[in-house]
Amino acid sequence: MHKNSIITGTGAHIPSRKITNEYFLNHRFYKKDGTPIVKDNRLVVAKLEEISGITERRYIDFGHDSAQMGYLASKQAVEAAGIDPETIGGIILAHNFGNLRPDDPQPHLIPNMAAMVKNRLGIKNPECVAFDLLFGCPGWLQAMIQAHLMLAAGMAKHILVVGVETMSPILEEHDLDGMLFGDGAGAVVLSAVEESEKRGVLSFKTVSHCEDEVDYLNMGPSCKPGVPGHQVKMKGRMVYRYAVQNVPGVVMDALKSADIPISQIKSFLLHQANEKMLRAIVDRLLTQNNLEGDIDALLPLSVQWFGNSSVATIPTLLTMILNGDLPPHVLSAGDDIVFGAVGAGMHANAMVYRF
Ligand SMILES: CC(C)(COP(=O)(O)OP(=O)(O)OC[C@H]1O[C@@H](n2cnc3c(N)ncnc32)[C@H](O)[C@@H]1OP(=O)(O)O)[C@@H](O)C(=O)NCCC(=O)NCCS
Repeated sequence: MHKNSIITGTGAHIPSRKITNEYFLNHRFYKKDGTPIVKDNRLVVAKLEEISGITERRYIDFGHDSAQMGYLASKQAVEAAGIDPETIGGIILAHNFGNLRPDDPQPHLIPNMAAMVKNRLGIKNPECVAFDLLFGCPGWLQAMIQAHLMLAAGMAKHILVVGVETMSPILEEHDLDGMLFGDGAGAVVLSAVEESEKRGVLSFKTVSHCEDEVDYLNMGPSCKPGVPGHQVKMKGRMVYRYAVQNVPGVVMDALKSADIPISQIKSFLLHQANEKMLRAIVDRLLTQNNLEGDIDALLPLSVQWFGNSSVATIPTLLTMILNGDLPPHVLSAGDDIVFGAVGAGMHANAMVYRF
């Protein structure tokens, strides 16, 4: 018999506030060195689409806070799992910027958001320990790894794994890179089951490179001279290079420990940061293994509609596929997939999962 960690329910909250690239036509952009960008903003947003594939993103709805997005995604996941919420033995919630409201750039870190989600789900069981995890954009996948280890250790029967990010109130209007990001939430119930066949989480791998890489994404001064405070800053090219160099490696390591050939993988559910970058990652994986594959079939994408919603991207993508909202992508019993992510730290992680 195998003690499997399987996904029994998923959910996503996609905010209704759709922000197309035209939203940025009146922004005044500056380069990282503080000089104004004089190029016509129509050309700026055309360039954004060309280099990232992003045409729109979602921003948190007025009247919501981050915790509410996490709650809505979690409620769906728990209902889809068909379990009594009181049987959930833990909640791990990944985020990077705390609880935020659309009209308030002040993040709130206490109470922690997993506790707020537990409160809003009405879960009373004190043994359901609710904690947050801060790990850049790979945070949700790292929370899945932690949840799997907790299930394997017999600490719980079900764990709710949530990814919530609100970036819109803190994105810098003068930085081109601000256009890459969006808001959202996704959640999964991971459950322990004893079965004769091995399925669910098969293997995982994480690396952290924290030398020069530590400030590839950081909080820094505005691109516009004189603007007070600190904003999300990114060395985009370095991040891109790090991702293309390191994600294939963690994926291959995870496949090796699952003893599964890459040719058996049905889909790569990767953190949605940049379409060009994701294609480059899958292309490198195929090329390194002397394989020819149909990247469009292997790589489900949502970045074009949601931008980079950080920890929310993978559980949202998974929910869309399982709900039939991302044709022609489907996942069926027996399919092997890879989850993979990269982000601030810098960290890269991967998980091999069998449906
Ligand atoms: C940021 C990123 C989109 C820049 O793409 P790039 O192709 O390296 O862009 P370059 O720096 O070479 O600049 C090329 C042009 O695009 C423009 N540009 C750069 N970033 C831009 C942006 N975010 N929006 C619009 N235009 C942008 C530059 O101004 C330049 O314009 P020019 O040709 O008129 O001079 C890309 O490096 C990237 O996606 N990196 C990874 C980011 C990421 O994944 N972050 C999150 C990790 S969790």
